[in-house]
Amino acid sequence: MPSPSSAAQGMGTMSNQGMIAGEHPTTRAGDLAAGKASYTTFCAKCHGDSGKGDGSAGVSLQTKPRDFTNCAEMTPMPDDMLFKVIKDGGAASGMSREMPPWKDAFEDPEIKDLVAYVRTFCKK
Ligand code: HEC
Repeated sequence: MPSPSSAAQGMGTMSNQGMIAGEHPTTRAGDLAAGKASYTTFCAKCHGDSGKGDGSAGVSLQTKPRDFTNCAEMTPMPDDMLFKVIKDGGAASGMSREMPPWKDAFEDPEIKDLVAYVRTFCKK
């Protein structure tokens, strides 16, 4: 998967100035476009394009995924928690193991992108 930072790395010299300057990728804000692309490819089949948990595979799960458009349920959930569920899977957070862990598929910054994108389903 192309890293969002690869374009920046291609610019300028081969020096590692960016790292010396302390620009740590996990501290940047989530990239919504990247999050959306990952979501559509890997998550929508269960969580649905609209985030309502109505993806083609989602409807046959034992535990129906939460409705991401439900602000009353989603807003109180801290980013850390969403991050952990995505990274380590549902079971690690006491949720359904039908939510797979994605730590082998995504780097931490990409998971942040996903959290940021998941947040966009709640419109308020
Ligand atoms: C195989 C189906 C499936 C896929 C694919 C899947 N999920 Fe899930 N996900 C679930 C289920 C089921 C739950 C609900 C777990 C529970 O509530 O016990 C869940 C829960 C979550 C939660 C926690 C919110 C909550 O309280 O329910 C987040 C955040 C989440 N998924 C994000 C993602 C992201 C991002 C991806 C893609 C990288 C993804 N999921 C892919 C099935 C899936």
